[in-house]
Amino acid sequence: MTIWYGGDYNPEQWPREVWPDDVRLMNRAGVNLATVGVFSWAKLEPRPGEYDFDWLDDVLDGLHAGGVRVDLATATASPPPWLAAQHPETLPVTEDGVRLSTGSRQQYCPSSPVYRERARRLVERLVERYAEHPALELWHVNNEYGCHVSHCYCEVSAAAFRTWLEAKYGSIEELNRVWGTAFWSQRYDSFAEIEPPRTAPSFPNPTQLLDFDRFSSDELLACYRAEVEVIRAASDVRITTNFMGFFKPVDYWKWAQHVDIVSDDTYPDPADPVSSAYAAMVRDLMRSLGGGAPWLLMEQSPSAVNWREQNAAKSPGQMRAWSYQAVARGADGVLFFQWRQSQAGSEKFHSGMVPHGGTDTRVWREIEQLGTELRDLSGGEGTASLSGSRVPAHVAIALDWESWWAIEQPASPTSVSYLETLFAWHRAFTALGLVVDFVRADGDLSTYRVVVAPAHLVATDAQLENLAGFAEAGGTLVVGFGTAITDEHLHVRLGGYLGERLRQTLGVWIEEFAPPAAPDLRARGGGTPPPVPLTGDIFGGDATGSVWAESVRVEHAETLATFTGGALAGWPAVTRRAAGAGHAWYVATLPEPAALGRLVSRVVEEAGVEVPAAVANAGDVEAVRRGEFVIAINHGRQTAVLRLEGTDVLTGAPASGLELPPQGVAIVRS
Ligand code: GAL
Ligand code: ZN
Repeated sequence: MTIWYGGDYNPEQWPREVWPDDVRLMNRAGVNLATVGVFSWAKLEPRPGEYDFDWLDDVLDGLHAGGVRVDLATATASPPPWLAAQHPETLPVTEDGVRLSTGSRQQYCPSSPVYRERARRLVERLVERYAEHPALELWHVNNEYGCHVSHCYCEVSAAAFRTWLEAKYGSIEELNRVWGTAFWSQRYDSFAEIEPPRTAPSFPNPTQLLDFDRFSSDELLACYRAEVEVIRAASDVRITTNFMGFFKPVDYWKWAQHVDIVSDDTYPDPADPVSSAYAAMVRDLMRSLGGGAPWLLMEQSPSAVNWREQNAAKSPGQMRAWSYQAVARGADGVLFFQWRQSQAGSEKFHSGMVPHGGTDTRVWREIEQLGTELRDLSGGEGTASLSGSRVPAHVAIALDWESWWAIEQPASPTSVSYLETLFAWHRAFTALGLVVDFVRADGDLSTYRVVVAPAHLVATDAQLENLAGFAEAGGTLVVGFGTAITDEHLHVRLGGYLGERLRQTLGVWIEEFAPPAAPDLRARGGGTPPPVPLTGDIFGGDATGSVWAESVRVEHAETLATFTGGALAGWPAVTRRAAGAGHAWYVATLPEPAALGRLVSRVVEEAGVEVPAAVANAGDVEAVRRGEFVIAINHGRQTAVLRLEGTDVLTGAPASGLELPPQGVAIVRS
C-alpha cells in the first residue's frame, strides 16, 4: 500500500509558469499527494457569488497528468475581505470585547449563520465541479479548526450559546441548579440574561466556563459537519480535517467520529530536547483517535517554522527521523507545510519543501531522499505491509478534554498543567519501550493490561464505573491525583475526594489537598514550589514529587510509599489494592521522572506486560513495533549499535550490529 508523501500546495502564490516546474519537482521528490486550495477562497470567489475555477482546473489537471493525487481543501478557513466588508458581524470578538480584523486569516465567528451559509455555497460549487475529478483522493475540510479563533464572544455567539444551553437544560431552574448560581448572587431569571463568560470582575462561574468550552468545541464541529454534509451528498471520497495534536480548545474524541481518516499537523520545536518524546505522545494520540487505524501526518515543517520567538532549523536528518517516528506510530503518510516556500506574506520565513534557495540545498536533498525511500517502501518487496498495519499497545492513558478544561480553570487547589501531567506518565512508559494508547475513560478498555487515569478531574458515574470495572475484571488501574473530584457539572463529589466508586476500588479516600506551594510572590514575579519529599521501596528509596500532594486516608489498601516532609510527613503517597480480579493503584503526587519510571516498571511487571528488550546500546533509540516491522530511530547524539535480529529494509543490511548514527533510522523486518 501507498505511503502518502507531499504537502500543502499553494500555486496561487506563483505565476503559472512555475506550475509545470512544481509537478516536475514533485515527481523528482516522490510526491504523490498535494493539499490544494486551503487558502484559496478569495481567488475562487473574488466577489460574492462570482466564482472562478478555471485556474484550479488547470492546477488539478496538471497534478493529475503528473500522477500526483489531490487532497482538495474546501477553502473555507480564511474568508475573503469582502465578507467582513459586507457583514462586519462575521468577525470574531475576544473575551475582552475586541473585534478581530481582516488582513490575517481565520477571521470568522464559528456561530455566524452568514459565514456558514457562504462557506456552504462555496463547498457546493467545489463539490459540484471536482467530485468526479480523477485526481481527487481526499477532501480536506477547512483547516485547523479553532487554531486562532476557538472561542467567540460576540453577540451572535452569545445568542447561539443561549440556544445551546436551552437545548441542554430545558429550563432555567435546571441551569441554575447545575451552574450552582446560588453562589455569589448569580441566579438567572431567564436564558436571555445569560452571556458568554466575557472578562468579568472576578472568577467566572466554573460550570458556565466549562459549558462555554463545550459549546465552542461543538460550534466548530457544527461548521465542520455542515461542510461534510454537502460533500457527502455528492462524493464517496474520504473526508478529513487536520487536527493539531493535543489542542486544548477542541475535543477531538467527539470530532474523530466524523472524519474518515485522522490527520494531524505537528511542529515539534527542534530546539527543545524533549520534542522527540513529546511528538511520540502526539502520534500515539492520533492513532488512538482513530481507534488504532492508520492516520496521516498532514503537516510538519521541512525545517524551521516562523511563528516562534526563535525558530530553530531542523538538524540534518531530523526531519527524516521525525517522519519515520510518525510512520512507526501508525501514520500512512508524511506531508508538509508547504511545498514551495513563499516569497511573500507572513510565512515567507517558514521553510518549504522547495526552499528559496532552490534544489541545490540541504532541505531539498533531504526531501528528495525521504520521498524516494517512502516510494521504495510503498512498492518494495515485502514492505507493502508496513502501511495499513497496526501498532499494538497494552497500556493506555485516559484522556479527557473536559478534565483538561476544568483542572486548568482559575480558583483551583493549585496550578496543574494537564498536558504536562499526561506527558510525565507517557514518557515513563515510552522510556521502557512500551507503546501507549489514549482512551476515553468510558471507552472499551478490555484490550489493555494497564490503564492510567491521571488528573481526570471531571468524571461521570459511567466513567468511574468503567474504570473500576476494568480493575475488577482483572486489569491494573492506576489513578493519579486530581481524579474524580467532581461530576460532569463540576459539583464536588462529597464524603471524601475520589467519590464513592473509586473509594471502594482503591480502598482510599482523600481528606484534604496540600499541594506544594511557594510563598505567594505574585507581586514579585512568583516563586517555584519546592519538591515534596517521598520515600518507598517502589521508588528504590527516597524520591521527590511535585505539582500535588494530599492527605490520603487508607481504608483497605497497602501503602507503598509515603510523604516524608512537612505537614504530610508519614502520610501515604502511593497505595495499591487487590480489587476483584485485578489491582488498583493510587498515586497522590507527580513523582519525579526517575521515580515515576520505577513505579511504572513495577506496575507493568505486576500486570504481566512484557517490557521489550533494549534494541540498542543507547537509551535514545526509540523502537516501535508496527505490523511485521520494528522501526528504530536514534534521537541521541551518539552513534548506537542495534541489537535487533532481522534485516533493515531501507538498506538490506542485517540489523544486528548495525550502527545507527544520530538521527539514523532502521526499519527492521523481524
Ligand atoms: C499550520 C497551518 C498552515 C501553516 C503552518 C505553519 O498551523 O495549517 O497553514 O500556517 O501552520 O507552520
Ligand atoms: Zn461570534
